[in-house]
Amino acid sequence: MTTLIAFSGSLRKDSFNTRVLRALPALAPDDVHIAFFDTTELPMYNGDLDGETVPPIVAALRAAVAEADGVIFATPEYNHSYSAATKNIVDWASRPMMAGAILGKKSMVISTTPGPGGGVHAISATSELLTLLGGTVVGTASAAKIHEKFSPNSDVIVDDEFARQLTICMSAF
Ligand SMILES: Cc1cc2nc3c(=O)[nH]c(=O)nc-3n(C[C@H](O)[C@H](O)[C@H](O)COP(=O)(O)O)c2cc1C
Repeated sequence: MTTLIAFSGSLRKDSFNTRVLRALPALAPDDVHIAFFDTTELPMYNGDLDGETVPPIVAALRAAVAEADGVIFATPEYNHSYSAATKNIVDWASRPMMAGAILGKKSMVISTTPGPGGGVHAISATSELLTLLGGTVVGTASAAKIHEKFSPNSDVIVDDEFARQLTICMSAF
């Protein structure tokens, strides 16, 4: 079984990117398990909190990344880059220096927008960041007009092409 830890880079309750993560288990290959990690309460990176002891949520995040076979990021595109929340997850997971859990991990990057751009700049910036940390981005998935790609009042993706893209990425782990 391949276990993938999934993070949303959006903190808002009705986030499209978080909803895409919720749709993943139904689209995942049989031997892939998706575990969600809620970072709503993750503090902003602060070196003063990052000592011999760290906040419990940080310890849990680092352990979850270390134990997973790969990481999935679903990040909003903010001003042609990843959100601050996405960067904050990566920053916490990249420490201690040279021993951060995220270093060298396989990952998948998703970004979706209600607008026409599809989050391609966020995908490229996030991929560059993860590659810089020694990781391999095994797949990316983008969708524009994301609000049209769910069935009404559910987190089921009805756009076959986007759903296929997500499945292919998860298979690549
Ligand atoms: C600060 C800010 C910057 C944004 N910049 C972009 C952008 O550069 N490109 C884009 O397509 N959408 C941009 N958007 C719109 C977001 O894609 C949209 O709000 C999206 O729904 C956010 O993701 P979420 O639904 O997962 O929270 C921006 C939104 C905010 C709040």
